Amino acid sequence: MSKKIFIANWKMQLSPAEALKTAKDFVRTFKDFKGIAVVCPDFLSLAGVAKIFKNTPLLLGAQDVAAFERGAYTGEISALDLASYDTKYVLIGHSERRSYLQENDKLLAAKIRMALAQKIKPVLCVGENAAEKKQGREAAVIKAQLKGALNYLPNHGVRSLLIAYEPIWAIGTGLHCDPEKALRVKRTIEELCKRAGLKKTPILYGGSVTANNAADFLIPNGFDGLLVGSASLKADSFKNIVRL
Ligand code: PGA
Repeated sequence: MSKKIFIANWKMQLSPAEALKTAKDFVRTFKDFKGIAVVCPDFLSLAGVAKIFKNTPLLLGAQDVAAFERGAYTGEISALDLASYDTKYVLIGHSERRSYLQENDKLLAAKIRMALAQKIKPVLCVGENAAEKKQGREAAVIKAQLKGALNYLPNHGVRSLLIAYEPIWAIGTGLHCDPEKALRVKRTIEELCKRAGLKKTPILYGGSVTANNAADFLIPNGFDGLLVGSASLKADSFKNIVRL
């Protein structure tokens, strides 16, 4: 059985000083960890966290990446530079970026391409909002999001894509998705990936994951990992999810 993947998404919740302190707590807490634990700090803290994580079992992730390699792109962060800090994963198309920053499929596909070119694993986030859920349109929405991004990607380039199913109504609300329902969506995603020629695409669940519900998503044939926001801001609570 392959190892589960646990990703901590710190969003913009911590100041750089708090992020560095929390990163040190993580290193102490995860010093003998044998699994895959990834921390995505904000960009200002990334270099500092990279230094703290050096020679530890913790991996560095980023919350976003530029759709361009290098050049006159004010405010952007290049995959080249993320790679130089040993960034291993990057979140692409988190619902907060899709909704607040109007990120679209074409842009997300370009970001995936940039990440892959630097051997950074892209984690494409998909999920329905509350209204779409009410209409029972989960599968249609996810299909559109996945197809939307994949249409812009040549097949050969997307071998190491990961997908995070994050129902938007579950993010930061304390209302996680019913695990059985989430697993039905996972099967839909698997089917779509197969049809798109993607093999072995790890599928993660995210949305109000806590130590109380994490195990329900990780049952045999369940999700391949978890993307955690609020409960990842403290080493101890993330550790309880990862269950050392
Ligand atoms: P949450 O956030 O765990 O606080 O719901 C998850 C996410 O947005 O990735």
